[in-house]
Amino acid sequence: MKKVQFTETVLRDANQSLIATRLPYSDFEPILETIDSAGFYSIECWGGATFDVCLRFLGEDPWERLRKIREKVPNTKLQMLLRGQNILGYKHYPDDIVRRFVRCAVKNGIDIIRIFDALNDTDNLKVAIDETKKCGAVASGAISYTTSPVHTNAKYVEIVKELKEMGVDTVCIKDMAGIMTPAAAYDLVSAIKDAVDLPIVIHTHCTTGLAYMTILKSIEAGADVIDTAISPFSGGTSQPATETLNHALRELGYDTDLKEDKLYEIADFFKPVRAKFLDSGKLNPISMGTDTQCLNYQIPGGMLSNLLSQLKSLNSLDKFDEALAETPKVRKDMGYPPLVTPTSQLIGTQAVQNVLAGERYKNVGAELKAYCRGEYGRTPAPIDPMIREKILAGDKIVEGRYADTLPTDTFEKAAEKLGDTARCEEDVLSYISFPPVAEKFFEERKAKEEKIVKYTITEA
Ligand code: CO
Repeated sequence: MKKVQFTETVLRDANQSLIATRLPYSDFEPILETIDSAGFYSIECWGGATFDVCLRFLGEDPWERLRKIREKVPNTKLQMLLRGQNILGYKHYPDDIVRRFVRCAVKNGIDIIRIFDALNDTDNLKVAIDETKKCGAVASGAISYTTSPVHTNAKYVEIVKELKEMGVDTVCIKDMAGIMTPAAAYDLVSAIKDAVDLPIVIHTHCTTGLAYMTILKSIEAGADVIDTAISPFSGGTSQPATETLNHALRELGYDTDLKEDKLYEIADFFKPVRAKFLDSGKLNPISMGTDTQCLNYQIPGGMLSNLLSQLKSLNSLDKFDEALAETPKVRKDMGYPPLVTPTSQLIGTQAVQNVLAGERYKNVGAELKAYCRGEYGRTPAPIDPMIREKILAGDKIVEGRYADTLPTDTFEKAAEKLGDTARCEEDVLSYISFPPVAEKFFEERKAKEEKIVKYTITEA
């Protein structure tokens, strides 16, 4: 009997896709032990946007969150999502910072690191993969799935072979927009299985309604692990429901390690949590529905809600459909990057700019300029030369690997600047990732502690 294993995403991707990663630690702490005992292959609980949001909006130290989860989850593997050379930020970092970050993530409790690059440029993955292996953790090499004239199965297999050369333990097909069809998944998984002998993980989103079928066909083609979210945080821009797939797969004769009674307990726990986010408006019912437009526009879950809030803040919600239609055009101009962080932001923001300005590429952000200089890596297809020229306006294009051109004393400089404010290597890495955000967090942390000390003295 073929076994299918499950990765539970409620703490990271479901949280990120449905409620902009706003789940505080205290909201899920009471259920961690139950999740640990439910029989998951892994729990995706860290990385992606959780790091930034913890510091920026939740007043939580992300490293401390990880240690607390580890303490409550001693048995199940903890998994994080790493943006390759971008670590958890939106730009490229020098190699030694990537290595330090990976080491600290493992030291604080991570077992599996899923590593992806928005452009599928393996030059941006190799250092993170190498360090993950050196730390004794599981390196999962991800391919960012997209469709375009240049994204063929042969191309994906070529990337997977490179990942295998780099030493990955598993391969993840990361369909962040939920656009992988059942037939395409069957063919792609089969092609990869034929080419390499590595476990295959399927990551998709329910955005377009394809996910359940896509997962089933992937399993029929030999996929080994699937990403799912406990039912109250499943569907829409999130993953398909854990209980549902477990139920259906068992009936079809597949073996799973999941304990049904535990799953129901976890689901019951998260129902009122979801209700709370619905009431506060942080969970937008639009994100819960099925949107087949994405089959044309290829807008991943997180990007859809970002576009909405961006236009809302500019008082231009009426331009939503126009911005949606502009997005694939910008993507084509930019050499068909898969739409995932950070390219999804680049493309989405530019689409909004183009629509609002009424002239294409009149206003261009610093990030897209950097992209056109080659600072994000090799694009899947060449950038439209005319548009590139207009955007660069004489700027030089990077030769070779961008990370190799970065300074090698970033860590030392940051540590020196922070002085006593940084209490450990992790603090310095938080600062390097999000400087103003981390500084503000450190200040608030200190103020909070001083208040506690003052209170304790008064009491004594
Ligand atoms: Co995802």
